[in-house]
Amino acid sequence: LTSDHVRIVEVGPRDGLQNEKKSISKETKIQLIERLANTGVTTIEAGSFVPAKWVPQMASTAEICEHLLTSPPLSQHAITYNYLVPNVRGLENLVKIMEGTGVPAESAGSASKPATTTEVSLFAAATEAFSKANTNCTVAESLERIKPIVALAKTKNIRVRGYVSVALGCPYEGPEVNPSKVADITATLLEMGADEVSVADTTGMGTAPRTMELLQTLKAAGIANTDLALHFHDTYGQALVNTIVSLEHGVRIFDSSVGGLGGCPYSKGATGNVATEDLIHTVHSLGMHTGINLEEMSRIGSWISEVLGRENASRAGKATLAR
Ligand code: HMG
Ligand code: MG
Repeated sequence: LTSDHVRIVEVGPRDGLQNEKKSISKETKIQLIERLANTGVTTIEAGSFVPAKWVPQMASTAEICEHLLTSPPLSQHAITYNYLVPNVRGLENLVKIMEGTGVPAESAGSASKPATTTEVSLFAAATEAFSKANTNCTVAESLERIKPIVALAKTKNIRVRGYVSVALGCPYEGPEVNPSKVADITATLLEMGADEVSVADTTGMGTAPRTMELLQTLKAAGIANTDLALHFHDTYGQALVNTIVSLEHGVRIFDSSVGGLGGCPYSKGATGNVATEDLIHTVHSLGMHTGINLEEMSRIGSWISEVLGRENASRAGKATLAR
């Protein structure tokens, strides 16, 4: 990958759908993932192994995961499918499915099956109040909970992504989240063995100056841009501004959801992630590459918004289709 290549992590099927009140069928979710796999995107968050009583919409993850392992969507390139695991039990449930299908974490693929990688995401938060709401434990306890998950993932050769939520604002503690705290948690996750950490603006409260301050704090703490992803929710319409700041700083991995789907159950009023179509448009406008077909991504954003009966939140997606 060159320095002008931006890797987009498509989080729509997980972050985008987890907060939808109306139950979405497994078939629709699989169709969404299959269509995404054909856009050129290389990482797709496919679900969460969390208790159904915490996030009912993700209850079909086990079946979706089994389907993706046994019948991976046709695509021109290798795809990483990612699952959130909140505890060892979540990872064990994933491993059971992997071992049942006999598909390894890094599958080379064959003439009829594209290569796939299975990856997990663990999550911690930068504030105590959000940690309690999202994972029912303190920040320190959540880091303790994460240790054995990373250890088990490593023995199974599963790539690990970490998340640090509320890095630029907390629904309970306000916008002034301490960037040093974010850097400490990010460094701890990397030391524990995470392959990459996604720093998340859960509430969309981040501004350009505070994003810059956070990035400088992460850098001062020795965190390399290659180990870092940014995850912007677009609640205040600042996600692309903050993306530009991050691109200038050298970050090359960004999370987004098609059609700007989403919201967070524990962050009242938070809207979706930055729309993937908007992110692609911005990156391409800078002469940088994503490897993703904007037209096809725009068609998917329009289709899934219609299926969910919601407004398509991607401006670039709507404009692309109107051309
Ligand atoms: P808890 O209630 O303290 O856990 O939740 P527990 O161990 O007491 O278990 C509660 C029940 O769930 C028990 O069942 C367990 O057996 C069962 P019961 O006895 O009541 O019948 N259980 C499980 N079932 C299935 N799968 C499992 C599992 N574990 C326990 N893995 C827990 C603690 C961490 C589990 C909970 O707080 C949780 O799942 N939290 C995750 C919530 C979530 O998914 N949030 C959204 C994702 S994070 C996010 O969106 C942010 C992100 O996008 C970045 C950003 O924008 O900030 C990533
Ligand atoms: Mg999120």
